[in-house]
Amino acid sequence: MELLVKNTDEDTLYKLVLGLVVPRPIGWVSTVSREGVYNIAPFSFFNAVNDAPPVLMISVSNRDEGSLKDTVKNILETKEFVVNTVSEELFEKMLITGEEFPPEVNEFEKAGLTPEPSKTITAPRIKEAKVSFECKLFKYVPVYDMHVIFGEVLLIKVDDSIITENFSVNYEAYKPIGRLGGRYYVRAFGDCKLEK
Ligand SMILES: Cc1cc2nc3c(=O)[nH]c(=O)nc-3n(C[C@H](O)[C@H](O)[C@H](O)COP(=O)(O)O)c2cc1C
Repeated sequence: MELLVKNTDEDTLYKLVLGLVVPRPIGWVSTVSREGVYNIAPFSFFNAVNDAPPVLMISVSNRDEGSLKDTVKNILETKEFVVNTVSEELFEKMLITGEEFPPEVNEFEKAGLTPEPSKTITAPRIKEAKVSFECKLFKYVPVYDMHVIFGEVLLIKVDDSIITENFSVNYEAYKPIGRLGGRYYVRAFGDCKLEK
């Protein structure tokens, strides 16, 4: 099968891009609004684009009725955010934060998660997450209907249980989750390791 993009409808392109560009890491983004309400949402259009200094990106659509998602609104207002990562034991809570709640709802409370003060910014970290990157807004780039947000990392929190003294990661302790298309997810640890 070959599809010429200009002849292909949007729903099909959505299914193909989400189903074929896999597995995607999940950036679990915590922010605070100008009014002080905490927010969390997961994004799998997420990756690292620079390592020193680390720069991460997320790409966020509008809501179906066209309004900005709370994450984008908060980041554009406050110029900061935290990207936490999702380990297996937090999977169900991550899914709750992916539901749409009105701006005044604190998603930490909805999902039973604990806000933890960041060291360099006002947006809170997710205490239960094994990894959190405190970011300041580096660049905002609209791409067609998406809001692409780059964050420069100011501080990296890593749980001691998943990292060795020389900064190797123990994936069996980390247990990161990746996203495939539709309802499919993947456990991204230990499945495939080069011997040398
Ligand atoms: C695993 C997962 C990955 C998601 N990835 C994205 C994404 O990359 N971009 C996006 O706009 N929405 C994505 N969503 C949907 C948002 O998380 C959802 O719209 C959320 O309600 C936005 O919340 P907010 O309004 O608090 O920012 C994803 C949802 C899940 C569960």
